Amino acid sequence: MLILAIETSCDETSVAVVQDGRKVLSNVVLSQVEVHAVFGGVVPEIASRRHVEAIGGLTQEALKKAGVDKKELDAVAVTVAPGLIGALLAGLSFAKAYAFGLGIPLIPVHHHMGHIAANYIAFPQLEPPFSCLVVSGGHTIFADVPAYNQAEVLGQSRDDAAGEAFDKIARALGLPYPGGKELDRLASQADPAVPSLPFPRPKFDDAPLDVSFSGLKTAVINFLHNQSQKGIEPDLPLLSRSLHEAIIDMLVPRAFEAAKLRNRNTLAVAGGVAANSHLRKALADRAEREGVNLYLPPLWLCGDNAAMIGCAGYYAYQNGVVADLSQNAQAVLPLSQQV
Ligand code: KG4
Ligand code: ZN
Repeated sequence: MLILAIETSCDETSVAVVQDGRKVLSNVVLSQVEVHAVFGGVVPEIASRRHVEAIGGLTQEALKKAGVDKKELDAVAVTVAPGLIGALLAGLSFAKAYAFGLGIPLIPVHHHMGHIAANYIAFPQLEPPFSCLVVSGGHTIFADVPAYNQAEVLGQSRDDAAGEAFDKIARALGLPYPGGKELDRLASQADPAVPSLPFPRPKFDDAPLDVSFSGLKTAVINFLHNQSQKGIEPDLPLLSRSLHEAIIDMLVPRAFEAAKLRNRNTLAVAGGVAANSHLRKALADRAEREGVNLYLPPLWLCGDNAAMIGCAGYYAYQNGVVADLSQNAQAVLPLSQQV
């Protein structure tokens, strides 16, 4: 089965051709990072317009790279939620027209089912059930994946996502957008002899698998003000390492707890923040200590891409999920509700 997949939920326009779920014949990604960097974050209206401009040409390119004629396509899969509403609509409108024109099914895909499915592409032997830590720019979720087309949210962030915390703090530090990658690099340069800064690690007694990252941003900003009042130049590598330690302390134990809660011995990781080298190391160390099978996708499958949407779309279609032309996009849609 040949699926044309489209992803436009945020600031990457991506089109892929995926065969039988896991074989990626092509995956083209056009990042808008440079356009948004001037503003220090994604400007939704600009993102939508850029998607509209790029999507046609990228589709031609994806088909050409895959060596596939559009008449050979069996279905079109597209991200319909969650994300920036205008950005989602740009991809969905194109996908609808393309599927209608070719007379083939349209498959609606939840963006996070896509992130989870990135693991199926990277690891041919991986099959549900397993546990999955989804860490992106917009969401932080401890999920259980009992079947290809199901996910249960066991815990999540009550406010900012981990990626959002990285990006907002990087911005407060005057680092270029997107800041996660830059903070990752800085943390590696911290002096191991200097003790870390005590940033908060909030807990919720009523929901032990929930996390909160918004307080981190305030703590970092207060720390910066304090330093500047004393005329001290902040030690950015130390600050970044301390920030990583707080985020990792909140994410890693809960990811393993969530797996235990559903008796899973396999833990997969998904989303843009899964590219973070310190988080990857902390997860790998703990997985080795606890004898848990850990799946960490390669970096090209962590960030937003259409290949993962094609893969998730394939499994959704196997489970009878198809959309008609009344399909809408949704800015917010809990992972457990699917599409
Ligand atoms: O999954 P993704 O590409 O987009 C969303 O669905 O949100 O994730 C983007 C997020 C951004 O917040 C970005 O700063 C973060 O992933 N990110 C990283 C790293 N690379 C990307 N965060 C920490 N360390 C990294 N190396
Ligand atoms: Zn994403």
